[in-house]
Amino acid sequence: MDKFDERFITSTKIADDSEVDNALRPRSLDGYIGQQKLKESLLVYIKAAKLRGEALDHVLLYGPPGLGKTTLAHIIAVELGRQIRVTSGPAIERAGDLAAILTNLGDGDVLFIDEIHRLNHSVEEILYPAMEDFALDFVIGKGPSAKSIRLNLPKFTLIGATTRAGMLTSPLRDRFGVIYRLEPYTHEELKTIVMRSASVLGIGIKEEAAIEISSRSRGTPRVANRLLKRVRDFAEVLKKQAIDIETAKKALKIMDIDSLGLDVIDIKLLRTIIEKFDGGPVGLETLAAAINEDANTIEDVYEPFFLQNGLIARTSRGRVALKRAYEHLGIKPKGGAQISIFKDDLNEDK
Ligand code: ADE
Repeated sequence: MDKFDERFITSTKIADDSEVDNALRPRSLDGYIGQQKLKESLLVYIKAAKLRGEALDHVLLYGPPGLGKTTLAHIIAVELGRQIRVTSGPAIERAGDLAAILTNLGDGDVLFIDEIHRLNHSVEEILYPAMEDFALDFVIGKGPSAKSIRLNLPKFTLIGATTRAGMLTSPLRDRFGVIYRLEPYTHEELKTIVMRSASVLGIGIKEEAAIEISSRSRGTPRVANRLLKRVRDFAEVLKKQAIDIETAKKALKIMDIDSLGLDVIDIKLLRTIIEKFDGGPVGLETLAAAINEDANTIEDVYEPFFLQNGLIARTSRGRVALKRAYEHLGIKPKGGAQISIFKDDLNEDK
């Protein structure tokens, strides 16, 4: 297991999540909290497809991990009244694997491909005619006698999910009729999710405690549900009837998750920028070496939350800790430290 996989607040899936994810997953669009705009249009597209008796157009869901892309795919299948087949980009190794999956689908069924940006090229190539014409193209034989054969497929809906929309090739991206970006959840939405999950898990929770958990969940239902499960353990051992604010605070303190949802590694990273590099700018590789962490992990796992919350900025000269990071850690900026950024400094791509 990687270091970051052991963190309570990682938004990527960990082994402990599968049972939680399944039990707590809402089954209908009605029970799905948040992503309001997405839900409104999606409901229309689903209804229209059903009225016409056609398959729903292919849907691409993208956004950071833990925001409910898989949950949504299952809900779409339920709302369509069709079966769902679940797989992932790296699981489909050869074109033949995908051909076997496609030929076994029923009319109107949903094929969910998680991490679709990780499909290999030969697999992706057979997906194009499958998505566009519901057909598989084979070449039989070699040389001048080679023949191309087209096999018709059932009219299915592909739902692709990715954390990295930018890594999809444009021919693949262009074949999705509906593209949604999932947004981080508000504290209020997360509170509702925590209250709902507690009820599914059969444990009482006071509203204040749900607010405490949700405010430390980094906008991510997966994190909120995971924290809820751990807080529940404390409540049960302490023989509490319901999770109250004291229990929640105590459990979160023992788990070393602070008021913003940062854990010890996050804090170490911020402190390193501030204390070792005078608040930055510091290059990603230098920072990675300083805390003995992989640069890609910093970029994919730690940084998105810092950037979303104005704790750091990416500038053309490297990472800079912002005023909010100093305030959060209770550190006074040294004279000369750059704690705010100017538009010209910004370099989101670096
Ligand atoms: N569990 C995970 N994501 C959820 C959501 N968006 N609504 C309700 N419960 C959830």
